[in-house]
Amino acid sequence: MYNIGFPKVRMRRLRRSKYIRMAVGETVLNLNNFIMPIFVKEDIRNKEPIEAMPGQYRYPVDKLNNIISKLLDYGIHSILLFGIPSHKDEEGSEAYNKNGIVQKAIKEIKGDFGDEVTIFTDVCMCQYTTHGHCGIVIERNNKYMVDNDKTLEYISKISVSHAEAGADFVSPSGMMDGMVKAIREALDKEGFNDIGIMSYSAKYASSFYGPFREAAYSSPKFGDRRGYQMDPRNLMEAIREVMLDINEGADIIMVKPALSYLDVIITVKSIFPYPLAAYNVSGEYSMVKAAAEKGWIDEKNIVFEILTSIKRAGADLIITYYALDVAKWIKEGYNPF
Ligand code: PBG
Repeated sequence: MYNIGFPKVRMRRLRRSKYIRMAVGETVLNLNNFIMPIFVKEDIRNKEPIEAMPGQYRYPVDKLNNIISKLLDYGIHSILLFGIPSHKDEEGSEAYNKNGIVQKAIKEIKGDFGDEVTIFTDVCMCQYTTHGHCGIVIERNNKYMVDNDKTLEYISKISVSHAEAGADFVSPSGMMDGMVKAIREALDKEGFNDIGIMSYSAKYASSFYGPFREAAYSSPKFGDRRGYQMDPRNLMEAIREVMLDINEGADIIMVKPALSYLDVIITVKSIFPYPLAAYNVSGEYSMVKAAAEKGWIDEKNIVFEILTSIKRAGADLIITYYALDVAKWIKEGYNPF
């Protein structure tokens, strides 16, 4: 097909200088694609460092504008909000409280910044329930399980309350079957047909979420999430999950985690013509931080390499705790390649 023998091939001609490499660089990070996760916590006065995620904080509502202004200054306009309530109960009722922590945060941010900030809200119950599961737990034959369909009623209510507060996109992360359809119908019924859904479509039951669960106090008190999140061994199943979400009306689909699932990203992207988000999760962040603190790796270079690989695999949007750092580094003109 191509002449690969003569004239003599010298691949290095395209690698001779920084600017030649930039000219032929196939994948370039774009700040517009980054989404910064933000934790907002009830009843604290000042931001709290998250021990397992150095450089990340839980913020009180009235200090959110500091971090958001910083993000905007550096060109990051999208955030993914996670709420940490003071009160938990069996049904996670704080999650759909009109004056709950996320609802307050949305109003505060939209009041200060309007559409300068696109707000995605995580829609789940694990931070809000005493048992730490992502839905309503019932007992059947002496076993506890998450009741899928009962949970749909709750996450629909939660989604509507986020939309009422002013969220741009709701992001169901509980891996309940039918969640996108239930939420779409609930939003439409309340007149929110312009509010989008970014669904955690292919979310694996991953050990990479460990630091997040410490950050959000959301570990399950018994059992695990393998009954509803995906088996890390499966790829075909991810295609089915994404297919279902698209049929149910998802606007943006997601693969999570990102790094150990680049094959899932490229497969999904090559099949479905939809905006695809990849979540570079807490464990992926903390591993880099820990190794960097030990001086074993070069943090900046590794982060550029990781995020570029996620984009190269086919992600359009990248959710990453490194969003602000990378935006600063790009602004300083840093380029490791
Ligand atoms: C809530 C949720 C989790 C994450 C995002 N939404 C935790 C979980 O499923 O246990 C993980 C994010 C991260 O690790 O960065 N269900």
